[in-house]
Amino acid sequence: MARDPMSALTLVREWMRTDWRAFFAELRQHRPVFVTPAFTVVTRFADVTEVLSHEEVFTVRAFGPRLEAALGGPFMLSRDATPMNWREKGLMQVMLPPQDAADVRGLAGRIADEALDAAAPRGRIEAVGELFRHVALRVCGEYFGFPGPDPATLSRWTRAVITDGFANFQGDLEIQAESVRAGGEMLRYLRGLLAERRAALEAGRVPPDDVFTRLIRTTLPAGVDVGDERMLINMAGLPLGFVESGPGAMTEAVEQIMLRPRVRAEAADAAAEPDPARFDRYVWEALRFNPFFKLLPRVCERDHVLAAGTPRRTVIPAGTFVLAAPASAMFDPDVVEEPDEFRLDRPGHHRLYFGHGHHACLGVHPARVVICEVVRRLLRRPGVRLLPAPEGTIVRAHGVFPDRFVLGLGRDGEEA
Ligand code: HEM
Repeated sequence: MARDPMSALTLVREWMRTDWRAFFAELRQHRPVFVTPAFTVVTRFADVTEVLSHEEVFTVRAFGPRLEAALGGPFMLSRDATPMNWREKGLMQVMLPPQDAADVRGLAGRIADEALDAAAPRGRIEAVGELFRHVALRVCGEYFGFPGPDPATLSRWTRAVITDGFANFQGDLEIQAESVRAGGEMLRYLRGLLAERRAALEAGRVPPDDVFTRLIRTTLPAGVDVGDERMLINMAGLPLGFVESGPGAMTEAVEQIMLRPRVRAEAADAAAEPDPARFDRYVWEALRFNPFFKLLPRVCERDHVLAAGTPRRTVIPAGTFVLAAPASAMFDPDVVEEPDEFRLDRPGHHRLYFGHGHHACLGVHPARVVICEVVRRLLRRPGVRLLPAPEGTIVRAHGVFPDRFVLGLGRDGEEA
């Protein structure tokens, strides 16, 4: 910092992207609340959950306006603590009940097996496009009722909007414009789909049993104002929540399992069991070693004393751009025993993959089962293996979103 503040910041950003475990370990020990001129990084478990639990102090203003520009109106992840947050998150939780998880798991498993069967004769699978993203897009179509005009278009829309919201740190105007275009196309498409669904219902045709139909058929009490446009913005939020983060989590979890030969062998045994419960623990623990969401950005709206009453006590001034780091929190030895060990006995409340507090993930129930089941179907296949670079290297757009991850398939490493 003293010698060259600009390159110091670049260096910190780069460490957080590539060498994050060692960097966060050092920060947790020596500078748990790390203040830079551009942002403040919060690294301990207790402090990360404190930031995420104070939605009126630490708001989503860092990315909310970008999401609103794309969607053409407010959305639960673009605002904090408004009546809309309460009303629409409640409504959408009713639309995505945990009881759907078993059917969604079955659906994801069937689609994954079809994709794996198709790839098997080639002895290779490009797992992001042919499996992870493919399943996520099909689940959007068949469970949410939002297939898009075709999977490639839906995929382009989600990538454009999420890139601007979460990876456009420099405020590139072309990325912003692309997101607004994609959001506009998405909403126009949804308006057409709504009209079609309504016409089919009026004509007495049986509509598909999916989330969209549930929403259309829901009658809310008088005075609860969720009109068509609000409904459609929430429908748009479903693929936006899923199509980047789901495949992202699958990619990272698979790589982390495959990098550990003993874990990989045990996970493959667990994958063969009819009850997936034991297998799922491998996925969650693997993801801890490379969570898809490492940092959650917030803007501090008023001075706040963080970690009050502890030696870490720090005043965060209003206007600070705060990065809460769940990736670091999940390695905090004050909370997570033997954090560097791969252990299956971690309690669920140590997992911060789906956020925490006010903005905790709406899609957690379907997302959990889809991620685990797709990885399970993959690991059931004989000879699944990492391939040497360059073929096996994971390619990530903007250093974040996986676009390519070629895996070998076939018994004993032989190509079929
Ligand atoms: C069915 C799939 C999914 C849907 C429909 C979905 C939807 C959402 C929505 C609407 C929110 C905002 C909630 C609010 O503001 O109150 C959210 C938050 C979040 N989701 Fe998901 N999501 C899905 C899958 C995932 C996956 C696979 C991950 C990562 C593994 C994930 C991680 C998160 C995180 C970390 C947040 C909190 C963001 C923050 O606090 O800034 N989601 N999700």
